[in-house]
Amino acid sequence: MDCATSNVHSQRRLPRRTSRTSIASIAHSHDSESSSIKGDVPSGHQMLQVQNVCKTFHGGRGTLEVLRDIRFNVAAGEFISIIGPSGCGKTTLLRILHGLEPATRGVVLVSGKRVETPSPSSAMVFQQFNLFPWLTVARNIAFGLEVAKLAIAQRKERTDRFVRLVGLQGFSEHYPHELSGGMQQRVGLARALAFDPEVLLLDEPFGALDAITREEL
Ligand SMILES: Nc1ncnc2c1ncn2[C@@H]1O[C@H](COP(=O)(O)OP(=O)(O)OP(=O)(O)O)[C@@H](O)[C@H]1O
Ligand SMILES: [Mg+2]
Repeated sequence: MDCATSNVHSQRRLPRRTSRTSIASIAHSHDSESSSIKGDVPSGHQMLQVQNVCKTFHGGRGTLEVLRDIRFNVAAGEFISIIGPSGCGKTTLLRILHGLEPATRGVVLVSGKRVETPSPSSAMVFQQFNLFPWLTVARNIAFGLEVAKLAIAQRKERTDRFVRLVGLQGFSEHYPHELSGGMQQRVGLARALAFDPEVLLLDEPFGALDAITREEL
């Protein structure tokens, strides 16, 4: 992809304190005729390798090419943002990187291992939060830790730590419908971080947050 002419842009940043690789999508209102992502982002090292990923949806309404030949590498500790207008394929790309959606062509590797289904090596914070409505904040955050069979004491310590990190002290026993959109988004973020994944995929993670909370997180 030639970033200058495409409607999708990437930004890279190397944080100092973590070896986790993070990819965030950010919607950006840019009027463009074309609404698909094409090409590659400048490459780095190899925690995540995205090789010629293409995605075309076939349905009753015809064929829609959303991703064409996406190629980029992301190094350990690197944070990149994928920026593009609504409908250009940001969520589709993140779903493929997480193994939730098969690519039509191309390969995704995390630590050299091919991604075909979701695995604990990556965690995704969904644009629509995707919290379990019947579970409390604490149980939502602990869910992946329960599946991973972490000991109860460790689970509680980690859940409490991430509840504090996202500023939801006092809300552990609340249910998602009792929270604002931004608070629900923070639960989704805490749930993903608690899992301590190698690759963190954030789909417009701060969209529902106020500017101050966004800056703090
Ligand atoms: N399962 C599907 N079947 C058919 N088309 C789909 C499917 N999922 C997404 N699309 C189409 O693919 C395109 C990209 O969708 P996607 O959700 O990836 O966009 P996005 O960049 O995340 O948009 P937004 O910023 O609004 O979240 C859209 O035109 C959408 O209608
Ligand atoms: Mg999206």
